[in-house]
Amino acid sequence: MARISDDDVRRVREATDLVSLVGERVVLRQKNRLFWGCCPFHDEKTPSFKIDPATQLWHCFGCGKGGDVFGYVMESEHLEFPEAVRLLADRAHIELHETGASGIPRGKKERLMQACAEAASYYHMQLMRSRSAGAASARAYLHDRGFGSGPSKKWNLGYAPGHGALVRHLRQKGFTANEIIEANLGYMSKSNRLVDRFYERVMFPVQDMQERTIAFGGRVIGTGEPKYLNTSGTPIFQKSSNMFGIEKAKTGIVASKCAVVVEGYTDVIAMHEAGITNVVATLGTALTSQHVRMLSRFATSIIYLFDGDAAGQKAADRASEFIDWNSAVESSRNPIDLKVVVLPDNLDPMEFITQRGADAMREQLAQAEPLLRYSILRRIGTWDLNSPSQKARALNDALQILYPLKNSISATDYINLIADALNVGYAAVAKALGEMKAPAAARREDRNQAQPEPKQQPVNRAVRAVVEADQQYIRMEHELMSLIVVDMRLLDAIDRDVARISWQDPASEKMADVLLSMDHGASPADALFAAQKVVPDASVLLAEAMNEQNGHEERLVQARLLLGSLRERDLERKIAAAKARLRDETLLSPEEADEIFKRTIGWQKELTGLRNGSLGTQNEKRS
Ligand code: UTP
Ligand code: MN
Repeated sequence: MARISDDDVRRVREATDLVSLVGERVVLRQKNRLFWGCCPFHDEKTPSFKIDPATQLWHCFGCGKGGDVFGYVMESEHLEFPEAVRLLADRAHIELHETGASGIPRGKKERLMQACAEAASYYHMQLMRSRSAGAASARAYLHDRGFGSGPSKKWNLGYAPGHGALVRHLRQKGFTANEIIEANLGYMSKSNRLVDRFYERVMFPVQDMQERTIAFGGRVIGTGEPKYLNTSGTPIFQKSSNMFGIEKAKTGIVASKCAVVVEGYTDVIAMHEAGITNVVATLGTALTSQHVRMLSRFATSIIYLFDGDAAGQKAADRASEFIDWNSAVESSRNPIDLKVVVLPDNLDPMEFITQRGADAMREQLAQAEPLLRYSILRRIGTWDLNSPSQKARALNDALQILYPLKNSISATDYINLIADALNVGYAAVAKALGEMKAPAAARREDRNQAQPEPKQQPVNRAVRAVVEADQQYIRMEHELMSLIVVDMRLLDAIDRDVARISWQDPASEKMADVLLSMDHGASPADALFAAQKVVPDASVLLAEAMNEQNGHEERLVQARLLLGSLRERDLERKIAAAKARLRDETLLSPEEADEIFKRTIGWQKELTGLRNGSLGTQNEKRS
């Protein structure tokens, strides 16, 4: 185990000023000797968080937390003690003497970062000053894309000539071949010569949070493969945890409490140039949980902004795979709100901003949709819901996405969403979720490792039951229709009950509407003809549901039984939906809440009455 000496801890403590550290995130005001601000660890409007600059201790009398500078970092960055010390040591440029540390010696990391910094300024100088034809074409290329000298300077963009130019430069500056290779700025060629990694490319330097250059993305000028060549993993850079633009976006993210994640280097620059400054990009990889964790130190919500093209859509699908560990409202200290925007018309963020402007982009961001909702609806949308077996698959898929939140209070909303989207009962979906087993493909957080395509899940028994119940109701609807077609006089007694059913099968609804509008004296042939006019395969549906009841009275009894069951189903759904709405009363006015409450009590009474009144065959099967 790595151990940091007490002496180092003391040096780090002394080098750190708690007031300025906290001041990066919280507005502080001095009153007499103490500094006061709103506690970063709980939500509050009046300051109850105080810092004593003399002792360098903090305390919040709102939530009761308190401690020293390390405790503050542990709490705010979700770190263990040694990690907190390391982070603060980094800030203060203190080198720790860790014994038995598994990582790379700090000295070496420093060297690699120096090599990257030197490379970045070399590339930048080439771009800005070199008279070579290559540099001129890089300048022209960037200029054509709207990145003139302003953005080029601000983002320290560069031009890599290749042909050993960088390697020679770095050697001259005293970097060893090993250091150049380890920083992934050069590599050994087959003929055993140290050569440049980046050739004739426009260079985008990647920095870490502390504004140290750690990697590069190099774009071909014009067309060519690969379009972007990126630094591969090095001791100072991992694409699964670093993000392009973080050093500049940090302030904007803290201020807005929201981070926007895009896919491309140029997207980040274009967004910042347009004044939207809380934007970062992943580096040729999907968003990982490490990215999310890093951003959640500064943001309470993350908007994943996808290109409108197929690749973006695919990325959106994959993003749903890390819904598990951070979406449950109550599961972590600061749960993060993951949202999605898919840009219209196949545009990527840079194209969108260029064509439609920053305000249109802000509008898109304002309309971000919860990732979970997006994923569930998208997954359901891939199935044909008219086919019962596909509908079962759709439900299965949706429940798998929701599975990690199975025991969370937020599940209720999504159960409702699924029940609505599939037009099945809430209670049944909830039950199916309860019986759902963990999805087979273990979710790995590192998206960089090749992953086998998840196997298609066998459809769970409870899921099948939901769809079967669903089918059963549809059959009841058809059976009721067939009774009425045979005996339109039934409507004398039951037309009002028929009229208020919320039909599950759109065909039932169409037939009911047309039959209700007809004269009750119509013959079976007339009724069937009318039904066929609105539902071409009415004869098939009605024949399947053909009934044996003989005589008006028997048919009336049967029709009432069916109506009772359908009404029960409707009431169950209405009650579940109302309960879900009432759960979050903050979204309702008190009058609305009262109104919903009253209505729900009425439905509940009616449902109890129905159940008590019709004990027997129908109900026993389903309760
Ligand atoms: P895009 O192909 O959308 O590129 O890839 P872009 O950012 O819009 O680039 P321009 O506007 O054509 O210059 C998005 C991101 O995917 C990674 C890069 O990080 C890129 O910014 N990528 C793309 C690669 O790593 N390698 C590639 O070959 C292509
Ligand atoms: Mn793009």
